[in-house]
Amino acid sequence: MPETVLVTGGAGFIGSHTCVELLGHGHDVVVVDNHVNSSPEALDRIAKIAGRPLAGAYRADVRDRKALREVFSSHPVDAVIHFAAHKAVGESAARPVEYYDTNVAGTCALLAVMHEQRVHRLVFSSSCSVYGDAGTVPLTERSPVAPTNPYARTKLMCERILEDVCDHLPQLKVLALRYFNPVGAHPSGLLGEDPRGVPGNLMPYVAQVAVGRRAQLSVFGDDYPTPDGTGVRDYIHVMDVAEGHRVAVGHLDDRTGMRVFNLGTGTGTSVLQLVAAFGEVSGRPVPYRVAGRRAGDVAELVADPSAVAAAWDWATTRDLTAMCRDAWRFQELHPDGYSCRPPRAGGPTTGESPCG
Ligand code: UD1
Repeated sequence: MPETVLVTGGAGFIGSHTCVELLGHGHDVVVVDNHVNSSPEALDRIAKIAGRPLAGAYRADVRDRKALREVFSSHPVDAVIHFAAHKAVGESAARPVEYYDTNVAGTCALLAVMHEQRVHRLVFSSSCSVYGDAGTVPLTERSPVAPTNPYARTKLMCERILEDVCDHLPQLKVLALRYFNPVGAHPSGLLGEDPRGVPGNLMPYVAQVAVGRRAQLSVFGDDYPTPDGTGVRDYIHVMDVAEGHRVAVGHLDDRTGMRVFNLGTGTGTSVLQLVAAFGEVSGRPVPYRVAGRRAGDVAELVADPSAVAAAWDWATTRDLTAMCRDAWRFQELHPDGYSCRPPRAGGPTTGESPCG
């Protein structure tokens, strides 16, 4: 039976793509989002791509138990996917209280209301950042954890809380997914990553340079012990991340308790390899200069994705070319993000701004 899934943070980058994937597989989807770092416009795009509406969309904060109770009372929620959180590493050091409050207290509020409402199935959005400066790659779920910033610590703390709550509530089923580096966009070009202000992450920055919004990329260090000296990461297409969540919902009932899985591809890509791939796909070479290392960065983070493959008989399918192509399509159609509406079908070709 298709289920009703409540998606917190459903208007955000990963949340919005996951909603499309869930609707496309027959689920009813209810979104809770406070839109502090997402656009309500994404909700219209979700319905447009899926060809059917969300079952409900609420502007609410996950820390607001009263608001959550009202949402649960209005829909027959079978499972929850909890994305709603702050996620910028640098900002987390500048505003730790806000990060702990939203990410940790928000998760506690959600768990309390879920229990009250007798909903005991949860997919939790965790992060590869919990591994910290791991040293040995690829990383398995048994690799040691050693988060290096407040953001990563909030995610690890939530995992610990979920373990404790699972020990206390035998009926609870939790899957925590540690994503590596989600990038790309929906292939329609209607949904994508729309960071507020200067992008902190590599792919959106590269895309904004390619579209002419920023002059050049700063490559943070070329003296790492990697083949070309630049940082290596496991980039994963956001549609693969979305598919992973939909598949996870189908595996929540495999057993009770808490399980943790990596969500990555197992392939490492350096900064310069990504810059080259993006330039080729977009036809716009991306100017860059080598700058110093960024504080807190590590040389290499790559997943061992074999646990998910064994447990769910599922693997990612989209490669770096698809990630760059889809990120570029969204960027080209939305040079200024969601504030610029997409053109009608048959709209502009490369170089023309639909906002212009
Ligand atoms: C960080 C988080 C990760 C989170 C991800 C997306 C850590 C250790 N990692 O990943 O949990 O999922 O953000 O929010 O907390 N780079 C440049 N120039 C730039 C930007 C980045 O050279 O302008 C380089 C970085 O040095 C790094 C690579 O590109 O080598 C990827 O950086 P980024 O996209 O910011 O992701 P992470 O820091 O790996």
